[in-house]
Amino acid sequence: MDFPIFDLGWVGNRFLFVVIAITHVLINHALAVGLAPVVVGMEFLGIKQQNPQWDRLAYKIMKVAFIVTTTVGAMTGVGIWFSASLVNPNSIGSLIRVFFSAWFFEWIIFVTEVVLIMFYYLTWDKWTKGRAKLNHFKVGYGLAVFSWITMAVIVSILGFMMDPGNWNAEKSLLNGFANPIYLPQLIFRTFLAGMMGASFALACTYFFTEKGSEIRAKATRFTSGWLLICAVPTIAGGLWYWNVIPDMMVNNMSVAVGTQQFQNWYDMLSKLLVGGVLGVIAFAFVTYFKPTWNYGKWAFVAPILILWGTLGMFERVREFIRKPYVIGGYMYSNTYRVEDYPLLKQDGILKHASFVSTKEVTDDNLVEAGKNVFMLACSRCHTANGVNAITDKFRNMYGTIDEPWNADAMKTYIKNMHNARYFMPPFPGNDKELDALVSYIKVLQYFPDPQTHTFGQTAISKEENARLLDFVKAMEQKQEELARTKRSEDVRLSVR
Ligand code: HEC
Repeated sequence: MDFPIFDLGWVGNRFLFVVIAITHVLINHALAVGLAPVVVGMEFLGIKQQNPQWDRLAYKIMKVAFIVTTTVGAMTGVGIWFSASLVNPNSIGSLIRVFFSAWFFEWIIFVTEVVLIMFYYLTWDKWTKGRAKLNHFKVGYGLAVFSWITMAVIVSILGFMMDPGNWNAEKSLLNGFANPIYLPQLIFRTFLAGMMGASFALACTYFFTEKGSEIRAKATRFTSGWLLICAVPTIAGGLWYWNVIPDMMVNNMSVAVGTQQFQNWYDMLSKLLVGGVLGVIAFAFVTYFKPTWNYGKWAFVAPILILWGTLGMFERVREFIRKPYVIGGYMYSNTYRVEDYPLLKQDGILKHASFVSTKEVTDDNLVEAGKNVFMLACSRCHTANGVNAITDKFRNMYGTIDEPWNADAMKTYIKNMHNARYFMPPFPGNDKELDALVSYIKVLQYFPDPQTHTFGQTAISKEENARLLDFVKAMEQKQEELARTKRSEDVRLSVR
């Protein structure tokens, strides 16, 4: 099945998905999976110690969690579906086929989770005594468990996309679900979420309680202790995860963290991240033993920001390092399946694309066909001249705007780009399509925005096509002449 390509122009198509997905994950891990058990723990202490102050604090924290998770959290959760279907319908289609029943199960769990959070928050002031209070606590307990289960299902899919394990040989749901990266990633996420929830509750304790109060001291110690307990399995899970990701992905790591341009900062950036997390742990250590010291509000906000930044970076890196695949070994990031490559190489990709303005390459449609090839083969990761622009990439490789890029060198590069840069899939099209692609990129060198079609607008006409190509040719000739006169001048100079 084929779909049109969704094009956001300058910012790139991935942008939409990344913003929505990362916002969702941050909220989900910190305020749902991580925070729910902390709040329920506080409620439990309130019941056990007959201390209503625990209960008040737990309620106030839950109010924040409730508002954020049921608005931004839920919206971005649904947004992930919409944006993923827009940006990469092929891969989401494949994932649905493999995880069909798992996703259905997850949906039921998710609906239950929403019902539970409604009950938990909205009955807090009503179910206050005896049996009712106990039931309220049980609802909270259920909420914590169900939040975790939804995450546990989704994490399997994320692991699957990195390394499907033996699913590539034997395609069953169980094989896909139990992929090699699943458990380590689940452990890492579970306890990192725990740290995030605890750091959030720690900050809330500071903001929602009075200075010098007994409950502030108690709750500070409780949340710091929670953070410290989660820290150990987070580190263990992180190291295990690091050990199971395939070598090829480890090689991608330095580009993943800071793009090629900042590759050399990799060491510094990763040290900064690790240092930040260790700093958070050290802080929790201090607050555990000295809960009554006056730390100031920023001391409590910083750990939240550091942990959110760490998880954000983790997601970015995870999404990057599995390249050139969107589903390991099965589907490339350009959404073509590995097994379809021989056919595509032979027939070309245009012939098999339903939503393109050109079905084959001719001299009269070279630029338009090239744009279509670009959209199909490169636009999942590059824009024409925005973020990660294809023009910038070639400008960096072959010199400035004055010098026309060398078509033969470009072709050779593109044919081998998957060897030069492991994170790029091999070029999927045939030789004619490669010619068209190179012509289009060479036009982009001079016309950042040639009048090419988008969404059914008129394609470049035959005349416009000729005009654009003539211009590029004229630039090449001019350059050759310049080089020739320079050569003869050099000769004259050397004769003198
Ligand atoms: C899976 C995503 C992906 C696809 C698909 C992709 N690229 Fe790339 N490409 C990248 C990334 C990532 C970089 C490096 C960006 C950075 O960090 O600077 C890159 C870099 C490049 C570079 C510069 C390489 C260098 O050595 O500096 C060129 C040229 C390039 N891509 C061309 C293409 C062309 C042409 C296509 C389509 C046929 C394509 N790419 C498809 C992800 C991709």
